[in-house]
Amino acid sequence: MWTFVLTLTLVLLLFLLLLLTCISRTRSGDEPPLDKGRVPWLGHALNFQRDAAKFLAEMKKKHGDIFTVCAAGHYITVLLDPNSYDAVLYDSDSLGYCGQKTLQMVFGLNLTNHNRAEEKRWMGQCFHGAKLESLSRSMYRNLQVLLGSAEMVHNLNEWKEDQLFNFCYSLLFKAGYLTLFGTEHNSSDRELATIYKEFRTFDGLIAKLARSALKSGEKRVANSVRKRLWDLLSPPMQSEIGAACSWQEDYRQYLEDSGVDKETQRRAMLLQLWITQCNAGPAAFWLLGFLLTHPQAMQAVQREMDSLQQQAPASELPYLDSQGSTPVFDSVLSETLRLTAAVLISREVKQDVMLNLADGRSFRLRRSDRVCLFPHLSPQMDPCIHQEPEKFKFDRFLNKDGTKKNDFFKGKSRLKYFTMPWGAGTNVCIGRDFATSTIKQFVFIVLTCFDVELSDPNSSMPPPNTVRCGFGMLQPKGDLNIRYKRKALL
Ligand code: HEM
Repeated sequence: MWTFVLTLTLVLLLFLLLLLTCISRTRSGDEPPLDKGRVPWLGHALNFQRDAAKFLAEMKKKHGDIFTVCAAGHYITVLLDPNSYDAVLYDSDSLGYCGQKTLQMVFGLNLTNHNRAEEKRWMGQCFHGAKLESLSRSMYRNLQVLLGSAEMVHNLNEWKEDQLFNFCYSLLFKAGYLTLFGTEHNSSDRELATIYKEFRTFDGLIAKLARSALKSGEKRVANSVRKRLWDLLSPPMQSEIGAACSWQEDYRQYLEDSGVDKETQRRAMLLQLWITQCNAGPAAFWLLGFLLTHPQAMQAVQREMDSLQQQAPASELPYLDSQGSTPVFDSVLSETLRLTAAVLISREVKQDVMLNLADGRSFRLRRSDRVCLFPHLSPQMDPCIHQEPEKFKFDRFLNKDGTKKNDFFKGKSRLKYFTMPWGAGTNVCIGRDFATSTIKQFVFIVLTCFDVELSDPNSSMPPPNTVRCGFGMLQPKGDLNIRYKRKALL
């Protein structure tokens, strides 16, 4: 009894102390504007979680390109001037990685003693040069097989109905899974369908998991689906010895060689499954959705794809890599990602430091605070950089002569970062070339081999689910009903 009272008193005292610290924090002269919100400690947490883009846009209007907000006891400085992003992205002395807690909460994964920089180097090699080419070709083959399967082309003359998000996500997930994780033991249609279903359940809970905002029923689902995925991703004993190597097996071996224990290896597989599969499907959805709802853009892409097809030997689909010359498609992809990629780049301040902005101002960051960049708001949706930023303009990233446009300005200064769907610096996407060629190949096969149309020609794009803002590609709230039928042999 006494132990309970003592513990409760201690907890209350700690909470009061925390509350006092929050209330008493004031802005000193050289710090960014401070906005603590109305409720002590909680501050702006709820608005931040509900719709980060809307909340940060309001704060930007109120305070400008840099400000500090309180959210659930954390002080977060948000920087929204892309010309100053390098000051955060490249200061590894004072600003450090702060994802460990999230990894623990979402993936049950403790990698504190793991060398992240070394792992990034290892990953970089996997998605580069000859290895990248081999993975891209394997992805292309898997896409062709899946899109040519009986399920897709059951009857040549009959339209098949589907929802575009599920259509894109399931195909890209399954092809991506076969390419990176597939072995003879886990690649049957039934296994693919099972792992996709479990993955979508997990992916649907990820934002709440990361914010510890799950209701008790959801908590049970999250724990059991995570466990099932760990099991599904664990190779059977016999395939550990002498089996044909998948990327997953190479990665497991890398972890083993780095001294990571077996249970952590199992859990790390789910992290990698999510990192490698959570963005391409949603990106393909937005891209095809924009094409289906913008006929002029669709015609331009179709023309480009038709000419690629004509250059290929008869009845063969040409292999398209990320570097192949497809300026119209590239512009459509950049425009799609500008509108729908929303990563929040976060760092922990390891020691008090002065942050020097491009406009000459300097602000002090306090030790233990966080500093965040949110490129979705600026540069991507910044009206000073992109005219009518909320509109999809398929040729926004094309010059008048049809070449790639990469000179964008804010005021008089030319921008290094005019769109940042892939992150930047140490937060850059390692798989961006693989992702680009994957989405290009997928769209190419779909448009070349299928007639696809909206079930209702008047339907428009669904809005994004704002709760996922900050977690990479946005996902739609709702879907687009489509119908498709095969038009040529794959
Ligand atoms: C449209 C598709 C994609 C987008 C928009 C995207 C975006 C990003 C972004 C913004 C990051 C940095 C995240 C952060 O550090 O906070 C990232 C990291 C990464 N991405 Fe992608 N990505 C995509 C697809 C892919 C694919 C298909 C792969 C691999 C098959 C991949 C592999 C990776 C890896 C390995 C990392 C590094 C994670 C780490 O820091 O350890 N990505 N991606």
